[in-house]
Amino acid sequence: MLLAQISDTHFRSHNQKLYGFIDVNAGNADVVAQLNALREAPDAVIVSGDIVNCGRPEEYQVARQVLGALRYPLLVIPGNHDDKAHFLEFLRPLCPQLGNDPDNIRYVVDHFATRLLFIDTSRTGTSSGWLTPETVAWLDKQLGDTPDKPAAVFMHHPPLPLGNAQMDPIACENGHLLLELITRHPNLVRVFCGHNHNLCMTQYRQAIIATVPGTVHQVPYHHEDNRPYYDMSPAACTMHRQVGEQWVSYQHSLAHFAGPWLYDPQASCPTEEPSSPC
Ligand SMILES: [Fe+2]
Repeated sequence: MLLAQISDTHFRSHNQKLYGFIDVNAGNADVVAQLNALREAPDAVIVSGDIVNCGRPEEYQVARQVLGALRYPLLVIPGNHDDKAHFLEFLRPLCPQLGNDPDNIRYVVDHFATRLLFIDTSRTGTSSGWLTPETVAWLDKQLGDTPDKPAAVFMHHPPLPLGNAQMDPIACENGHLLLELITRHPNLVRVFCGHNHNLCMTQYRQAIIATVPGTVHQVPYHHEDNRPYYDMSPAACTMHRQVGEQWVSYQHSLAHFAGPWLYDPQASCPTEEPSSPC
């Protein structure tokens, strides 16, 4: 299993830029081109919410066109910037697992060594997240049905505070219900989120909980300053690979940079160096 998780694409309508100057549509098209060119092809690409910025149909048209160019299966969940109905209407053709009920978006992917559980934590009209009783009951059943198989949950909002002054107030408000599931189900070992636009990791009991970077713009982590900053620090994708019994996650840069080069010990420590002038 090799999964590429990207997040928070925030597509805008054709020819519109985010905040008036960030060309998210072009940036996301570049990300798709980079993923399509990966030397080691992932089994799927996951987008963990905030597919578009304003929930508009015209934005989803662009999202469907750009994400539809991916040459891998797409696994997608909504974030607080998404509109549930438009999200389903435009993205279900790319991700049939989404079903047809905008108020109950959740699905399982069960053909890997780890079970992948996708849930919707968005709540119309608010930036913070919320777990509905139906979602919690569904997760409880999924985790209880296969107690011997490890499971990973993908959700937009992190289920607990991460010490991030800007983002903690809009995390998943009742995320403690997810933490209770971690306590009750030892097979729940990973929770991967978007929302925070940066890479951040913590652990709750046996589960590693992480947020991943955005594809274009990022949110700097500040512990005390809660003003709503964003920046253009380099984007990254989080790769998830099953290595034997281990789930290994690593960062793959989406910035443009020189290299790679093959390491050459002779070039590293030449046996003969030109003598330096005195
Ligand atoms: Fe976002």
